[in-house]
Amino acid sequence: MTQDETLIRLSEVRMEGVGKRYGAAWVVKDVSISIRPGEFYTLLGPSGCGKTTLLRMLAGFAQPDEGRIFVDDEPIDSVPPWKRNLGMVFQHYALWPHMSVFENVAFGLRERRVSGAELDSKVKAALQQVGLEGFEPRRPSQLSGGQQQRVALARTLIVQPRLLLLDEPLSNLDAQLRSQMRLELARLHRDVGITTLYVTHDQAEALSLSTRIAVLSEGALVQEGRPEEIYWKPRNAFVAEFVGAANLVPVSVIELREMGVVVQTTGGARLPVSSGGHAWSVGDRALLCLRPEALRVEEAERSAGGIPGTIAAHVFEGSRQLYDVTIPGGTIKVEMITSALVGRSFKLGDQVRVEVSPETSVLLPDEGSTA
Ligand SMILES: Nc1ncnc2c1ncn2[C@@H]1O[C@H](COP(=O)(O)OP(=O)(O)O)[C@@H](O)[C@H]1O
Ligand SMILES: [Mg+2]
Repeated sequence: MTQDETLIRLSEVRMEGVGKRYGAAWVVKDVSISIRPGEFYTLLGPSGCGKTTLLRMLAGFAQPDEGRIFVDDEPIDSVPPWKRNLGMVFQHYALWPHMSVFENVAFGLRERRVSGAELDSKVKAALQQVGLEGFEPRRPSQLSGGQQQRVALARTLIVQPRLLLLDEPLSNLDAQLRSQMRLELARLHRDVGITTLYVTHDQAEALSLSTRIAVLSEGALVQEGRPEEIYWKPRNAFVAEFVGAANLVPVSVIELREMGVVVQTTGGARLPVSSGGHAWSVGDRALLCLRPEALRVEEAERSAGGIPGTIAAHVFEGSRQLYDVTIPGGTIKVEMITSALVGRSFKLGDQVRVEVSPETSVLLPDEGSTA
């Protein structure tokens, strides 16, 4: 293998105040992000929030109306798409059905006038990267969906792009294949190390694959951070609910402390919680974000703290027990691992307390309130 084949360029991307308008509607609004060399960076958000538009601007298929995009510190605004040297895999990764796997993968290099032994060895190396060695003579119709997806990746990687851009590449696959391909993508990124920009509306994909995630809503960047930060320290109710299940309990701030605040629920329960990086004043209305799996249900008389309530629903799922606990002004969903519950299971109507730990709860602005 020549040095050229093993060389990995770790590129970086910077978007500064990027905006895009179709007619009067701004579909991307003032987005600034930096993607570091070797990162697996994900744009996460609901359908229509501008993910594909951002990717297309990076690739050169659309022009920003505001802001600038840099790759490796060079502005790329005036560089045509084919000179940007970016590898893009779309949701509909059309392979040429009449061509073999070898020819599908070789295509980009043939265009660059590579042939003979060099072409053979590069196709072989690319197929090896995606775990498809020996598949050269097959037609796409003789491959599974996941294998076709890997051919699409090999076809993209073989021209050694500076960046890998993936737009919902798993959305055409069934659920089982999707989680399998997720592992494949993680492995591929580990092995190849290429800086990757990934687009998805699937929070599980984003959380499991990414070094960092940018959550988008209606064209704007809402929060950027590592998966753990996005999940445990969401900045607002939108992020909390989009990235996993969240209980959002209305509370008011009654005391400010060095390391957080004390809040009070509608029913009068007082809880110390973390401030979530917001500045609070006594009397503020807020939403307490509680992940169901971070909560515990205890018998009311055995426990002092927490939020008092009544069991309103109970589902036994084997490994997990799911409870709905009614509290004044709402319902809290709790998800507990069964093994921790041996001998203790709650029935409908039981008086309980939902135990909340300050580390796994976060206080969010109540954007719907007028207070
Ligand atoms: N070429 C276009 N002309 C007009 N509107 C567009 C065009 N492309 C995208 N849009 C609109 O821009 C918004 C963002 O689209 P898109 O970037 O595809 O979102 P996502 O990929 O997050 O689903 C949507 O409202 C979409 O209808
Ligand atoms: Mg899209």
